[in-house]
Amino acid sequence: MNDHPTAPDTDNGALLSVRGVDVGYRTGRRTRVTAVHDVSFDLHPGQSMALVGESGCGKTTLGLGLLRLLPRTGVVPKGEILFRRKDGTRVDVRTLEKEKLRRFRWNEAAMVFQGAMNAFNPVLKIEEHFLDTFRAHERAGRRRPRKEIIERSAELLEMVRLDPVRVLGSFPHELSGGMRQRSLIALALALEPQLLILDEPTTALDILTQRSIVERLAELREELRFSMVFITHDLGLAAELADRVGTMYAGRLIETGTTRDIFYRSRHPYTSALINSVPPVVGDLHVPESLPGGPPSLNALPPGCSFAPRCAHALDSCTATRPVLEVLKHRDAGLSHTAACFRSTDAALHAEGVSR
Ligand SMILES: Nc1ncnc2c1ncn2[C@@H]1O[C@H](COP(=O)(O)OP(=O)(O)OP(=O)(O)O)[C@@H](O)[C@H]1O
Ligand SMILES: [Mg+2]
Repeated sequence: MNDHPTAPDTDNGALLSVRGVDVGYRTGRRTRVTAVHDVSFDLHPGQSMALVGESGCGKTTLGLGLLRLLPRTGVVPKGEILFRRKDGTRVDVRTLEKEKLRRFRWNEAAMVFQGAMNAFNPVLKIEEHFLDTFRAHERAGRRRPRKEIIERSAELLEMVRLDPVRVLGSFPHELSGGMRQRSLIALALALEPQLLILDEPTTALDILTQRSIVERLAELREELRFSMVFITHDLGLAAELADRVGTMYAGRLIETGTTRDIFYRSRHPYTSALINSVPPVVGDLHVPESLPGGPPSLNALPPGCSFAPRCAHALDSCTATRPVLEVLKHRDAGLSHTAACFRSTDAALHAEGVSR
């Protein structure tokens, strides 16, 4: 396990090893805001990890940074993004040059963007989007004929439970939101990537459509064995889809653990507050607790722990020194529990329970 900023990089079989990554945006000629700080985690083959946290905490920035899909002002100034390619070799995505990066994306790792339902070009039928994707990411000299691409696209659409004839011949606006989102997932899986990053893929959909897409995603992951980073506000979805959960706050990963560790034994008061802000579906009804205040501005992070100003359990030391991720429980295959909180091992606090 290596969810630790200072962990040495030993090859532990992970598909993706993120080490001390910062991601920022240039805001002027010489100014930059750092939106993601010093993030490290491992994702093993077939594993799925949910990234949770309030709006603005850096989830999308991290996802985009990992695949170097940031807007022009985006930079990844620090860290390593080590990815095991299909041939077994490891590359650092951060330093891949342009052509290799183009082949890496979609072939090895793909992303479904936040708000992507409107990402289709409105004047192109869905089949043109599939043709473009296959052609843009295949190696020169290995061009597949159109008929073969359309057949493969039809298989992919069937995989996400869509009628391929209807969908391939439609313009994006002729499809429902759910159908567009399924089409995007099919498109992302077109070149059989080993990693799929999904950024709030179902947020804009009604609950039943959301359900069926999430269920199909879980099945597809079993069938195709890809790894997944699932970015969401919805803790219920995280619990359902993820083997591991990472909580982000003010651009940092502040707790990582198995889904059980995070939901039943969270050790960071922010994670606990997120969990407690959701009404329970079973058990005693309680009024969800809201978390006072909001995350700090990236330009004015408080000294010490960024969460301390909102934390009911903060000590003097929390406002003076920033806690780093500590390993609480070590398990093999990247399933350990880490938290960046001075009180993460405080028996009194956790006996009383900061989360339900
Ligand atoms: N293009 C940009 N230029 C400058 N700052 C940006 C840019 N995009 C995002 N940011 C800033 O980076 C921080 C993290 O934003 P990000 O979109 O990654 O958060 P998020 O966790 O995905 O939020 P949400 O849950 O709302 O999608 C925010 O403070 C945001 O204002
Ligand atoms: Mg986002």
